[in-house]
Amino acid sequence: MWTLPLRIAALGLFHVGLARQASIRVAEIVAPSSRAWETIVDSDPAALVNLFIGTTAGGHAFPGATVPHGMVKAGMDTDSPGNHAGYDANPAYLATGFSQLHETGTGGDIPLSNFKLWPLSNCPSFEQCHTSLDKRKAPRKILPNGAPDDEASPGYFATNLTTGVRVELTATRRTALHRYTFPAASTNPRIIVDITNDGKMSAREVVMKINGTTGRVVGGATFDGSFGPGSYRAYTCVDFQSESAGFVMPTEFGAWSGDTPKKGTRDNSFDLSTGSQVGALLTFPQSSTNRLTSILARVGVSLISIEQACANAEAEIPHFDFEAVKDASRSQWNDILKRIRVDPVGVPRDTVELFYSSLYRTHIVPADYTGENPKWNSTEPYYDSFYCNWDTYRTLFPLMSLHDPENFAKITRGMIDIQKHEGFLPECRSATVMQHVQGGSNGDPILAEFYVKFSHEAAHLNVSSSDLYLALLADAENSPQDWELQGRQIKPWRLLNYIPSDKYDGEANTRQVSRTLEYAFDDFAISQVSKLLGKVDDHRKYSRRASNFLNVWNPNVTVPGAKEIRGMMQPRLANGVFDYTDPRHCSIHDPDHSTCYLDSYINTDGFYEGSPIVYVPHDTAKLIELQGGKEKFISRLDFIFNQSYFEPTDEPSLQMPFMYHYANRPGLSTQRSRQVIAEFFNTSSNGLPGNDDSGAMGSYVAFLLAGLYPLPATNQILLSSPFFPQVSFRNPLFGTTTTIRSKGFVGNPPSGTGGKVFIKSVSVNGRPYKSNCYLDWDVFVAGSLVELTLTDDINVTCGEGVHALPPSLSTGGYD
Ligand SMILES: *[C@@H]1O[C@H](CO)[C@@H](O)[C@H](O)[C@H]1NC(C)=O
Ligand SMILES: *[C@@H]1O[C@H](CO)[C@@H](O)[C@H](O)[C@H]1NC(C)=O
Ligand SMILES: *[C@@H]1O[C@H](CO)[C@@H](O)[C@H](O)[C@H]1NC(C)=O
Ligand SMILES: *[C@@H]1O[C@H](CO)[C@@H](O)[C@H](O)[C@H]1NC(C)=O
Ligand SMILES: *[C@@H]1O[C@H](CO)[C@@H](O)[C@H](O)[C@H]1NC(C)=O
Ligand SMILES: *[C@@H]1O[C@H](CO)[C@@H](O)[C@H](O)[C@H]1NC(C)=O
Ligand SMILES: *[C@@H]1O[C@H](CO)[C@@H](O)[C@H](O)[C@H]1NC(C)=O
Ligand SMILES: *[C@@H]1O[C@H](CO)[C@@H](O)[C@H](O)[C@H]1NC(C)=O
Repeated sequence: MWTLPLRIAALGLFHVGLARQASIRVAEIVAPSSRAWETIVDSDPAALVNLFIGTTAGGHAFPGATVPHGMVKAGMDTDSPGNHAGYDANPAYLATGFSQLHETGTGGDIPLSNFKLWPLSNCPSFEQCHTSLDKRKAPRKILPNGAPDDEASPGYFATNLTTGVRVELTATRRTALHRYTFPAASTNPRIIVDITNDGKMSAREVVMKINGTTGRVVGGATFDGSFGPGSYRAYTCVDFQSESAGFVMPTEFGAWSGDTPKKGTRDNSFDLSTGSQVGALLTFPQSSTNRLTSILARVGVSLISIEQACANAEAEIPHFDFEAVKDASRSQWNDILKRIRVDPVGVPRDTVELFYSSLYRTHIVPADYTGENPKWNSTEPYYDSFYCNWDTYRTLFPLMSLHDPENFAKITRGMIDIQKHEGFLPECRSATVMQHVQGGSNGDPILAEFYVKFSHEAAHLNVSSSDLYLALLADAENSPQDWELQGRQIKPWRLLNYIPSDKYDGEANTRQVSRTLEYAFDDFAISQVSKLLGKVDDHRKYSRRASNFLNVWNPNVTVPGAKEIRGMMQPRLANGVFDYTDPRHCSIHDPDHSTCYLDSYINTDGFYEGSPIVYVPHDTAKLIELQGGKEKFISRLDFIFNQSYFEPTDEPSLQMPFMYHYANRPGLSTQRSRQVIAEFFNTSSNGLPGNDDSGAMGSYVAFLLAGLYPLPATNQILLSSPFFPQVSFRNPLFGTTTTIRSKGFVGNPPSGTGGKVFIKSVSVNGRPYKSNCYLDWDVFVAGSLVELTLTDDINVTCGEGVHALPPSLSTGGYD
């Protein structure tokens, strides 16, 4: 994903024990003795999820309350410049509100963060309350260890503000429930409903109404998209209850504009200025019992209408029962988390937490907006928050194949429905807005991943094979109105079989080499589906186009200072002549310090989120040949890691640690992937090296810890050793469980180097397996016991037989 002013290094890294809090508290309750926490893996894995990982220093992970793939994501917003998910764990940033919609781990401009609520414990009078964002914002309470007094677990978020108000959040799919507990001294507890201040402060065409009798506040506005042109309209419906007394009439109410609340006003019609901040302010009676005043706010959201926002709220949370909503959410999370069980015996709690927290983050988006699509009516599911498929196709969806095919099927159906109505599969989308395409049409490998894995179950899951195939062909063959927003730049792709580096159709071309590699992979993915459908000609055609990456390989280019590394992906002019981009480009060694992000389309030197040292996932055998053989391939990989060309924050690099497999050196992959975890991923609030990218990084970490790396749209998964004595994947669709067990597991080397972690041999259900380097999908379909015999010898190989090495397109392709 595109990071704004890149890497946010200026913020500084922020090391506090914050990330530990929620789970430490839980551990104190559940696990008084030292290893008893291990039983939580079976009873309540949600307790092992640390939501604060990656919530500062540019991770942009969302730590608030949501159900799996929920539309509503209720969370705290801060005034951090890195508040893409609202929150920042750095307590230097003040809290500005508790809003209902968020993305997770994105770059772009601040997305969503709509309809903030805000408690005021003691303004001198109604008219003197500070209502605007800047005037009302408040510091969070800070604990003795320097961390903010914040807590979170799946489906729940809580914070204490310095104003003495405790705020708790939980959610259903389209409705949030907030609980504001005011201090005893708060004689006039008040709550602001802020209609206008989304993350971009972009609201216009604002409507708002207050019913002074019921206390209901409804409103809506038009907001700008985050990472592309276009806008969306969103609505809310807020009702209040006192926790001890049930419904209470507000003692005062009124609309506000800027910092001017007007008591008794019932809408925003007095506010004739544009661009001003607008909302409602309500005062509630102090609790008459000895209890503190707790006000529950139920916040329905809709993209259709105010009426629907109210109906969603009434249907989803009829009783304002905070604990019940919170428990129901947690149990939905446990249902998903329990499908992958890691054996914690002999493994530090940190590693187990890292696993479940990473798995958790793969189920925040795409978000289920079914029933909330204003653009067309359909009986199909509607999913949104694909931000962006470029990030998630490699690892997030393949992880879903292993344990959550039903959600995967619904997302697939939603994507196909978008293609039917908009002509092309979604690529990068938030709140119905089409956003910038980054690489190729990366919805293709997602649909192909689904179909390769579930072609036999597709009909049962209500996924139409023919519609799925037509959606793929649309991306592969049709010219979109604007290929920066959907589809591909199809004309030069079909004509030249690469994307030329010079102007095309009169416009400067961007990211040409990256797009050539991505389009080739997209066509590979389509070739896999055409094969399953028996479309022989199409299969031949798309397999041929899958090899188009060869057209941008210049065999003569070397890395300055490392002449032995010869041959690179390079830009090429339409006339066939190669252009030149320094192979150090976009890396930390780039003499020009260029970024490789979208940069308003001025990225014309060929590469996106990766230096010219980019690899081709579907034909690594060919790449080894181009690079001059296995030894050279291995030493180039070593060079890439030694010289920090490996970029853990950007997806093109993700597969590199496992690529030694193809040179028959799986021990080196095992070591590299473990070194990557040791160096770049941990359970601190700064424990992500960059944006989480909508859970892409979470899925990457989950795979590496499980000792696997996926090859999307194929039947193969690369194999290494798990960080656990065993890991089990339960697939509810097949009703089977596959366990990967490390025989003689003795723990993990802390730095990732050495250790008894290398695979000497593999058996499946007691029989020697054809390869030590990968598993076929049918192993997971059937439900199998995969046993790994470990050694401390890094010089292990993939095995002896003809099928020992993982397949590549040029060595016969994929079964
Ligand atoms: C906030 O304060 C309450 C009351 O003192 C305490 O129980 C709670 O643990 C604190 N922290 C959070 C995040 O709610
Ligand atoms: C407030 O809501 C009540 C209950 O729905 C309704 O009867 C009343 O007319 C509303 N008041 C206003 C001013 O709209
Ligand atoms: C969807 O159906 C509803 C109810 O018939 C209608 O009001 C609405 O305009 C339709 N929306 C679109 C985008 O066609
Ligand atoms: C598939 O569609 C049928 C008919 O609409 C429905 O009864 C069934 O529940 C659906 N199955 C799934 C898995 O969505
Ligand atoms: C690479 O160098 C060889 C030998 O000089 C030359 O024949 C070939 O055309 C060059 N290839 C490219 C793509 O520049
Ligand atoms: C990488 O570093 C390792 C150890 O630091 C060294 O053995 C190896 O030769 C280096 N390889 C390259 C290509 O620089
Ligand atoms: C945790 O990970 C971050 C991001 O990669 C890194 O900057 C930090 O040094 C790591 N912290 C520890 C204690 O390893
Ligand atoms: C692995 O191979 C290297 C190079 O051939 C050798 O130096 C090393 O001793 C071997 N390691 C083991 C554990 O046999």
